[in-house]
Amino acid sequence: MEQTTLRITDNAPLTRDVWEMTLAGDCSAIERPGQFIDIKLDGFFLRRPISVCDWGDDWVTIIYKVVGNGTDAMTGLKPGKTLNCLTGLGNGFDTSAAGDAPLLIGGGVGTPPMYGLAKKLIAEGKKPKVILGFNTASEIFFEKEFRALGCDVAVTTVDGSCGVKGFVTDALPEGFSYYYACGPMPMLRAVYRAAETSGQMSFEERMGCGFGACMGCSVKTVNGYKRVCKDGPVLLKEEILWD
Ligand SMILES: Cc1cc2nc3c(=O)[nH]c(=O)nc-3n(C[C@H](O)[C@H](O)[C@H](O)COP(=O)(O)OP(=O)(O)OC[C@H]3O[C@@H](n4cnc5c(N)ncnc54)[C@H](O)[C@@H]3O)c2cc1C
Ligand code: FES
Repeated sequence: MEQTTLRITDNAPLTRDVWEMTLAGDCSAIERPGQFIDIKLDGFFLRRPISVCDWGDDWVTIIYKVVGNGTDAMTGLKPGKTLNCLTGLGNGFDTSAAGDAPLLIGGGVGTPPMYGLAKKLIAEGKKPKVILGFNTASEIFFEKEFRALGCDVAVTTVDGSCGVKGFVTDALPEGFSYYYACGPMPMLRAVYRAAETSGQMSFEERMGCGFGACMGCSVKTVNGYKRVCKDGPVLLKEEILWD
């Protein structure tokens, strides 16, 4: 983990309530897709954790959904503004288990960490299949970005306005070797039940301190409670205990 000052270079909406922000500065602490940064916002005590979507040594892109006061305030931040950030947080995805035909599943704002993961898997010679799940067509983002990487992409919408009607589990392909998933808890639970291979899931549970001190982000596992911020956010399918 590193505390650093990042400068906003771009901050623009992708859909009605989902925004993409690019920040410049020292991002050398980011090592793996699935890690996150924790942003200090003026006037807010707790930092806001947001997954890394894509990154280089001196820049990072994040995608955030406006759900409350903090993310709403982020939409008003202009290029040039600097933010105090913790970078390189969390364990991230382990690509060594992917096999030849990994499947990447992103639900809503669970989609962004799958982008950096897709790039890494492709760099390692894999051809990932991707399922992106949204409620309705107007909420879809990053479909073309995944296609531009060369991924085989399926989109699902709950109302059937685009792609396969239903949930990500309605578009599971035959014959994938392993899976990686990030999205809301009901989606992760459904994937856990439907997918037969092993996999890794990223949890975007609500956080407190963000660095392992308060237990506010704990989830139940076969090895006791684990902290999403410190031990995760990525957990193995086999270690998760669902209520
Ligand atoms: C490891 C990690 C990675 C994350 N990555 C992303 C990401 O890439 N993009 C993104 O949009 N969001 C992500 N989140 C969620 C994001 O941190 C929260 O949505 C954000 O902190 C809310 O701040 P706020 O001030 O706008 O909302 P608040 O005012 O704090 O809360 C407003 C409402 O949102 C709900 N809420 C707050 N936090 C969460 C949460 N974590 N999950 C579900 N509901 C929540 C609250 O219950 C409340 O109803 C991530 C969270 C974690 C822990
Ligand atoms: S947020 Fe405090 S331990 Fe995870």
